[in-house]
Amino acid sequence: MLRVQIPNILVSLSLQNYKMSSKSSCYVCQNCGYITSQFFGKCRNCKSWNSIIEEKKSSKSKHLIENSTNKPRSLEEIKIQKISRIKSGFKEFDRVLGGGFVYGSFALLGGEPGIGKSTLVLQAASKISMSKKVLYISAEESLEQVKIRWDRLDEKSENLKIFSENNLAVIIQEIKNARPSLAIIDSIQAINNLEMESSSGSVSQVRSCSNDLQHLAKEYGITILIIGHVTKEGSLAGPKTLEHLVDVVLNFEGDQIGSHRLLRSIKNRFGATLEIGIFDMQENGLQEVLNTSANFTNNENVAGLATTITREGTRCFAVDIQALVNKSFYNNPRRTTTGIQLNRLHQILAVIEKSLGFKLAQYDCYIATAGGFDINDPSSDLGIAISLISSHKNIKPLQDCSFIGEIGLNGQVRKTNYMEQRIEESIRLGFKNIMVPKTDNDSKKKYQNIKILEVQNIREAFNRGLENN
Ligand code: TYD
Ligand code: MG
Repeated sequence: MLRVQIPNILVSLSLQNYKMSSKSSCYVCQNCGYITSQFFGKCRNCKSWNSIIEEKKSSKSKHLIENSTNKPRSLEEIKIQKISRIKSGFKEFDRVLGGGFVYGSFALLGGEPGIGKSTLVLQAASKISMSKKVLYISAEESLEQVKIRWDRLDEKSENLKIFSENNLAVIIQEIKNARPSLAIIDSIQAINNLEMESSSGSVSQVRSCSNDLQHLAKEYGITILIIGHVTKEGSLAGPKTLEHLVDVVLNFEGDQIGSHRLLRSIKNRFGATLEIGIFDMQENGLQEVLNTSANFTNNENVAGLATTITREGTRCFAVDIQALVNKSFYNNPRRTTTGIQLNRLHQILAVIEKSLGFKLAQYDCYIATAGGFDINDPSSDLGIAISLISSHKNIKPLQDCSFIGEIGLNGQVRKTNYMEQRIEESIRLGFKNIMVPKTDNDSKKKYQNIKILEVQNIREAFNRGLENN
């Protein structure tokens, strides 16, 4: 208990020191925020080495307080103008943004190096520049390197202006002069505020550059999109330093081997989060995937393959799940997954063993989703279970059937949300049979020429979900 309290006391004492101190600078630990009036090689609070950096106090604040005309107002007095947005030219990109970039907003696009951030942004910049002024600031690559990428792409616009610079002051000056509707900075880790001694990419540099750019966006009404590389730990540019500063946080993800790329919104002050946009990386840049289901299903009827309808953001689409259940020759049978969490496979295998009595402990079990697509939706449990059982028995699943439902620990097939939307997507794709959890409402009766197979538990799903079973 005592060990937990001491650092808090230290931090609050240090904050008091900071407020009372008449010195023009103080020293701040970049790891835990501990403030001291003296430089230390090792932080007294979090014990990390070389994390303390000098921060200078500004003398402007007194003057600003005296001249401020800002007053609190009631919400009724505040009139909202219609939010106008800049369309990116990609339907998928706009959907994730909630309809496009809001004027004067400050957005962050994160992702692992090499995933295609610069390509996506260059393509969007090119499309936007056909009707709006866009400035693309490349701090990582030379103009020639950008041109080489540009030559591969279909989108070409003569209006797009490229600026290769990594000095923050010069970048800000150029944005003020050019007054673009959208300024893109590729990347925030490569630009440098020369007033700070730390090297570019360090937490303090990233924080200070982002702060200045945020003020610029709000003051001049210029939309600024910054690109940030995700660190090895998976967080954006330093311990989440940027996420609270920006209006929108997007993440560009996908596996480096497969060509699918997902654009995910993690935070959006002007739209829904958890929305995704799907792209395909091709020879001539990123192509948007509009008919999502067609990309993740093959319409095959083979043993070990079942189709489920998953929901991401506001969309439902079909994804094939493949299973391979094979007699094991290892002491510890192998369990491997691509696209679903390993724990879910373990859980579903345990339910199958207990409810159906199959001795799966003696079998290697592999599960893979089509294209390695990450499914986090529990309604795909039934699809996973049917693909495993189908592979184990070497019997094809029921033809033209999609499987939707969550599996409970005692084998029951549980209700899932957005059932109607999922059934409609199945019908749109031409499925004639749809296996769903049994519910009391009659709404499913309205689908004509479609067989809705309601099941209560995994045994019933096994009896009715395989061909000629
Ligand atoms: P890039 O946009 O440079 O990634 P990031 O900015 O996230 O680091 O993308 C680099 C990868 O994209 C590289 O492996 C090559 C591939 N690529 C294509 O497959 N097709 C293309 O048309 C382009 C421009 C890149
Ligand atoms: Mg890049």
